[in-house]
Amino acid sequence: MKLKAVLIDENQDLYVDYVEDLCPKENELLVKVKATAINRADLLQRKGNYPPPAGESTILGLEMSGVVEKVGSNVIEWKEGDRVYALLAGGGYAEEVVIPADMAMKLPDTMSFEQAAAIPEAFLTAYLNLVELGGLTSGEHALIHAAASGVGTAAIQIARELGATSIVTAGSLEKLNRCLSLGANYAINYKEENFAEKVQEITNNSGVDLILDFIGASYWEANIESIGLDGRWVFVGSLGGREVSSMNLGPFLQKRLHFIGSTLRSRTNPYKIALTRKFEAFAKEKFIQGTLTPVIDRVYDWHNVMEAHSYMDRNLNIGKIVLKID
Ligand SMILES: NC(=O)c1ccc[n+]([C@@H]2O[C@H](COP(=O)([O-])OP(=O)(O)OC[C@H]3O[C@@H](n4cnc5c(N)ncnc54)[C@H](OP(=O)(O)O)[C@@H]3O)[C@@H](O)[C@H]2O)c1
Repeated sequence: MKLKAVLIDENQDLYVDYVEDLCPKENELLVKVKATAINRADLLQRKGNYPPPAGESTILGLEMSGVVEKVGSNVIEWKEGDRVYALLAGGGYAEEVVIPADMAMKLPDTMSFEQAAAIPEAFLTAYLNLVELGGLTSGEHALIHAAASGVGTAAIQIARELGATSIVTAGSLEKLNRCLSLGANYAINYKEENFAEKVQEITNNSGVDLILDFIGASYWEANIESIGLDGRWVFVGSLGGREVSSMNLGPFLQKRLHFIGSTLRSRTNPYKIALTRKFEAFAKEKFIQGTLTPVIDRVYDWHNVMEAHSYMDRNLNIGKIVLKID
């Protein structure tokens, strides 16, 4: 064994050790990983609360950038030495990973491995839920919660590029200012203000057309107040809990609401590949021009991965935390 990866010990601590070597199948690429990034899901998985989908790597890591080391026998569009980045169902916290060749995106020459590793999970989640499932269009209002998160900072930029007005919530002045600098139109400190009241003020009591909801139970009532007629409420995370103690279904009828639950990781590879291609068509030139940009808070050496997890656990990051793999 010559391949090293981050493993989880019995105390849920992370350490680097040797694992079985990988070999690409005919339609796959073996990629030498240069950087990966941390997601909330990794914290849950480390604690045993978010097992990988069946058949996927048990190693943490939902995204990576790196250099193609070997190509499967059927692969014609990639060659050894190509710089790629991709969404993963797992396995990114390692020196090498195997991916379906069709899942790879080409790194623009101007982009570093650290920048590229910060894109797939945040931007594909934001794109899937705002555009594909949420149908957000120019002139509409979107309420984006936990807006300084990795996914939130991507969602603000995508909403801006679509020509939508974004109203965002976050828990500190520093986070709100960063969101505004990324193009958020209105920023609300949810710890100091009632966001539902602010949303009514901003929208002249019409409510928003879309909510990107990472919070769930603790925002339930305020979300119902905030959403407008024919609103799409895309539920992607439960940072504020999963159980709502009492629920009035009336507003769902009266406002003709769409409640959409969504997870990206459990989607099939063909779905993720199609999504990646649509996202690339939307975003590639924008990344090159700099109108879309991955927001990176910190880059850690991967041997300090526990420190990086703790930083996210304490809600300190604005945007992404990247791990550099040596
Ligand atoms: N469904 C999917 O396919 C999918 C894919 C990717 C991510 N996600 C979800 O998207 C969310 C963001 O992920 P990420 O990796 O981008 O997160 P992240 O960068 O770690 O940011 C999360 C932020 O959420 C805020 N927060 C935490 N607990 C909160 C609470 N109880 N109430 C209000 N705000 C709270 C904190 O910021 P403040 O200081 O502002 O409170 C925290 O920094 C997570 O829930 C994750 O599970 C879902």
